[in-house]
Amino acid sequence: MVSSIEKAIDRLNKERSRDQSGGTEQIAAADEALVESDNVDAESKSITGEKTEDGKGVVAVNQDVSTANPIDSDAIVAAHELPEKEICEIDFETLGKAGYLVPNSDQQRLSEEYRIIKRPLLMNAFGKGAAPVERGNLVLVTSSFPGEGKTYTAINLGVSIATELDSTILLVDGDVLKSSLSKLLGMEDKPGLIDVLEDPTMDLGDVIQSTQVPKLKILPAGRRHQNSTELLASESMEKILTELAERYPDRIVLFDAPPMLATTEAGVLTYRMGQIVMVVEAGKTPVDAVNESIAQLDPNKVIGLVLNKSRVKSGHKYYGSYYG
Ligand SMILES: Nc1ncnc2c1ncn2[C@@H]1O[C@H](COP(=O)(O)OP(=O)(O)OP(=O)(O)O)[C@@H](O)[C@H]1O
Ligand SMILES: [Mg+2]
Repeated sequence: MVSSIEKAIDRLNKERSRDQSGGTEQIAAADEALVESDNVDAESKSITGEKTEDGKGVVAVNQDVSTANPIDSDAIVAAHELPEKEICEIDFETLGKAGYLVPNSDQQRLSEEYRIIKRPLLMNAFGKGAAPVERGNLVLVTSSFPGEGKTYTAINLGVSIATELDSTILLVDGDVLKSSLSKLLGMEDKPGLIDVLEDPTMDLGDVIQSTQVPKLKILPAGRRHQNSTELLASESMEKILTELAERYPDRIVLFDAPPMLATTEAGVLTYRMGQIVMVVEAGKTPVDAVNESIAQLDPNKVIGLVLNKSRVKSGHKYYGSYYG
């Protein structure tokens, strides 16, 4: 694993020096990574007595019938049926115009690139890779600095995975300070991760949003909190992650995170994930910064590099996603 990362860094170095000597604009490519794999416990536990994802569930009505008023049978039916959970419509038209990958579009290149990126992630997550990866279905997208394309990568990967036949995706806005993912998806006012962390009586199912794409669910950031780092590092977060990792064994939980070198939140989160996707902005992210970010990661994690905004043509050995 380390050697493939080193190879990628080495390649970035070479590309960079080539660019500088030739006076051309940056063209860099990080290759390989995410080659090691994992095994999600095939007999993952399921949680019983929980609400179903569509918001329906069984409500226990604790009323003493002997003293109660005459029973209204319509009210009983109403009390036993929670309202259908609303579907949050994502504005894919606007996202598509802004260059994001959207469902049912003809963005063949972009879609092929994300197919290449997601393949090893899925294999690791579902135990089809070379070696088991603990919590392989928990994947974090981060980068060294702001603006390198973490949220862009997370949304595109999310959409790409949602088109898989046998897996579902939960996109989590783990950048709780900026909450760009929630904003882009029109969910900035919804309760989310921070609310559940703050109030342990809240059920995760209550804040996970369904979308018009049945396999794509969203966990928004929720409301802002001044102690967000502490909340992300808390025991409650550990419980939430365990629940997320085990509740649906066929689900990838993909976190959009803040940058590694500009915040403490990302570092806290990486330790609890199975796979890390490190976004590198072609021609911009200094190689030293990539090295520094990777040095902060647990070497036992599966780490993949995604080269964003590259102008080189992508092939099976490259991750890249922009043709300017
Ligand atoms: N490959 C790309 N092609 C086109 N636009 C891109 C690409 N990658 C990122 N962008 C655009 O660049 C801007 C920054 O990207 P994004 O918000 O994903 O970065 P980020 O790393 O999440 O930033 P932050 O650290 O602030 O959260 C956005 O406007 C996004 O739409
Ligand atoms: Mg972002």
